[in-house]
Amino acid sequence: PAIKILVCGGGNGAHTLAGIAAAIPNVEVRVLTLFADEADKWSKILESNVLVVSITYNNGTTAEILSKPKLVTKDPAIAVPGIDIIFFTVPAFAHQQYFHAILPFLEPNVIIAGLPGQAGFEFQAISTLKNVVDKCAILNCESLPWACRLLEFGKKVQIQGFKESLSTSLIMGHGKYKLPPLELIQKILGERPKLVKTKNYLAVNLMAKSIVHPPIMYGKWCLDWDGEPLKLGAPLFYQGVDDVQADLLSKVSDEVVNTSKKIQEIRPELDMSEVIHIFDWFTINYRDQISDSSNLKMAMRTNKAYNGLLHPTRKENGNLVPDFSYRYITEDVPFGLVVIKGIAEIVGVETPTMDKIINWAQDILGREFLVGSELKGKDLKCTRSPQAFGFKTLEELLNV
Ligand code: NAI
Repeated sequence: PAIKILVCGGGNGAHTLAGIAAAIPNVEVRVLTLFADEADKWSKILESNVLVVSITYNNGTTAEILSKPKLVTKDPAIAVPGIDIIFFTVPAFAHQQYFHAILPFLEPNVIIAGLPGQAGFEFQAISTLKNVVDKCAILNCESLPWACRLLEFGKKVQIQGFKESLSTSLIMGHGKYKLPPLELIQKILGERPKLVKTKNYLAVNLMAKSIVHPPIMYGKWCLDWDGEPLKLGAPLFYQGVDDVQADLLSKVSDEVVNTSKKIQEIRPELDMSEVIHIFDWFTINYRDQISDSSNLKMAMRTNKAYNGLLHPTRKENGNLVPDFSYRYITEDVPFGLVVIKGIAEIVGVETPTMDKIINWAQDILGREFLVGSELKGKDLKCTRSPQAFGFKTLEELLNV
């Protein structure tokens, strides 16, 4: 085959990508999953089944793609050699483990693609893959191309919707690639979403959507909950947003925009125009789905794409309580908000609202990232802030 790709992961996104790519002529798909017994299980299923991707297009029409990845393994020695693209399609907390696993077998001229990379992907990739990374490209998509979910492990996955476009950053490295990296990835994904290259990688990091969940969690469960079981069931997440939660999110987004403006001030030649307020981002990206875009609260409450989505909850002694182990905190704080805070700190921008939320979340996680308003807690290494990898100046960030 002309192109060989490796999909890292074994969840919703990994199944979808593996299924779509394996149906393309001249594309060989391998899957590397390190989690539990996923590799053995999926491998066994593949012996007598094809993988079905059941698609609902945005216009309501449906289709099915049937295909078979070449192999599913937990052994990087089998998975990595000869590969052209390595996709990370797994939650950000699992990335480090994959970087370590692929490192001994990684060759030059490979495209390393975070799909999505989430905030801090480049910092972690560059620090972990030191020896080869300058001969590889690092690409970071702002989100997963689809809303998708696994219906039956190894057998069937469903695409519920396609993103229209995806901001994607690219650090080219000095490798030689079969096609320009974005073009190659677009070929694998198909027509939609359209990958749009950002001017610099910091913009994708600053525009990480992981800023959305923590302010809402904080507003709901720190400021507006008496600690009693939830007798009325799980509350709506987006459609339940109140003035306080919307204001918190708006302030966090202001801090992101301030950070971008400060970077722009220090380095006027950089184009930071892609960093915009979350309210503007919602109204642009969900134009057809929002029925009242008069303010951020209403834009979230009336966004059809969020119909019925609930706060994560769990049962404790038979009672319903909020679930703080869900990725809205465990992933979106150390691999999201803290990364953005780290970039802000490097350029000297104050972030009082982010600090308040991180301070609350770190107590829940039993970690210490912030001390007061400074990122110098003992558990900083468990985050993907630039500081965790030794980046201390804007110069260092821009020279990656
Ligand atoms: P997922 O929730 O399906 O990922 C589960 C997989 O992660 C497992 O199958 C396993 O392979 C791995 N995993 C889980 N726990 C692990 C552990 N303790 N150690 C190592 N590996 C472990 O994730 P999904 O839905 O594929 O999402 C991937 C990324 O895309 C995430 O960052 C998510 O936030 C983002 N995303 C997902 C969307 C969706 O529709 N599924 C939409 C937009 C973004």
